[in-house]
Amino acid sequence: MNILGIETSCDETGVAIYSSMEGLLAHQLYSQVQLHAEYGGVVPELASRDHVRKLVPLIRTTLAQAGLQGSDIRGIAYTAGPGLAGALLAGAAVARSLAWTWKVPAVEVHHMEGHLLAPMLEEHPPAFPFVALLVSGGHSMLVKVDGIGQYRLLGESLDDAAGEAFDKTAKMLGLGYPGGPAIAARAELGDPERFQFPRPMTDRPGLDFSFSGLKTYALTTMQKESAGLQGEALERLKNDIARAFEDAVVDTLVIKCRRALREAGVNTLVLAGGVAANQRLRAKMNRMMAAEEGEAFYPRLEFCTDNGAMIAYAGWQRLRVGEAQGLVFQARPRWSLMDLQAPGISG
Ligand code: KG4
Ligand code: ZN
Repeated sequence: MNILGIETSCDETGVAIYSSMEGLLAHQLYSQVQLHAEYGGVVPELASRDHVRKLVPLIRTTLAQAGLQGSDIRGIAYTAGPGLAGALLAGAAVARSLAWTWKVPAVEVHHMEGHLLAPMLEEHPPAFPFVALLVSGGHSMLVKVDGIGQYRLLGESLDDAAGEAFDKTAKMLGLGYPGGPAIAARAELGDPERFQFPRPMTDRPGLDFSFSGLKTYALTTMQKESAGLQGEALERLKNDIARAFEDAVVDTLVIKCRRALREAGVNTLVLAGGVAANQRLRAKMNRMMAAEEGEAFYPRLEFCTDNGAMIAYAGWQRLRVGEAQGLVFQARPRWSLMDLQAPGISG
């Protein structure tokens, strides 16, 4: 059974075809980064319009890459939320129209469930139960995962998501958008000893996060230290702040993951979402997991950030047991992962 996956929740148009027999057959991504870069962040209306422009051609390219035709597709999975309403509607409209035309079922996929299941596309997938750290531009969550659709929230960000904190700090330092890769690149050049940023909420019990204070810490450090600086010295200061900021976020996430694993009584950890692409986070997390005699699982780098493959895979898990929804569709800009249930018949 070939499943077409469609992702349009934010600023990437992602399309993929997953075969229940052969695994991932094709995937294509069109990133809107260039479009939004001059505004320093995602402009929702521009995002929706670009999905409308790019989605159908991208579906054609993905079908061609897999050597398939529309009539070979047996089910469609699309991101119904959470995300930008207009962007979600663009994907939902195309997905539902194709499902009607091809007379195949279509299923709503929760974007974060897509992220969470992305490591299942790898050769060595994690086994349930596990703890998942979901760190994207919109969410930071620790979740106990007992099976698909069986999620228990252990902790979440009380303010900015981890990716959002990267993005805002990068913008403040004038490093561009998206901020995660920009900060990571500058941090490589930075001096790890120069500044020590706090590790928020690690000195008290609990598994929630707070990242907005770190962003302010970076801002005040910048204001205090940059007076009279220019040229290379100013760039060096930015590198050192980027390093201190990245170290603080990474340490905080590692400490909370260790705590979550111990509390949940499991030793398998899954990291997913855009921030899981961060190399320093992966390295420190692996060291912690080795000490805990556990194992960490990650999606390949390109499937950490938004993509159609994770949506096709997550959708297949629901389509395979007959779950699908009817012709009336909706976007779910706010949709809690905890509202999901194990795959079954619905709608
Ligand atoms: O999962 P994703 O592609 O989109 C959402 O669902 O939000 O995550 C995007 C986020 C952005 O905030 C971006 O700055 C961050 O992931 N990101 C990174 C890295 N690559 C992307 N953060 C830290 N280090 C990276 N290498
Ligand atoms: Zn995402």
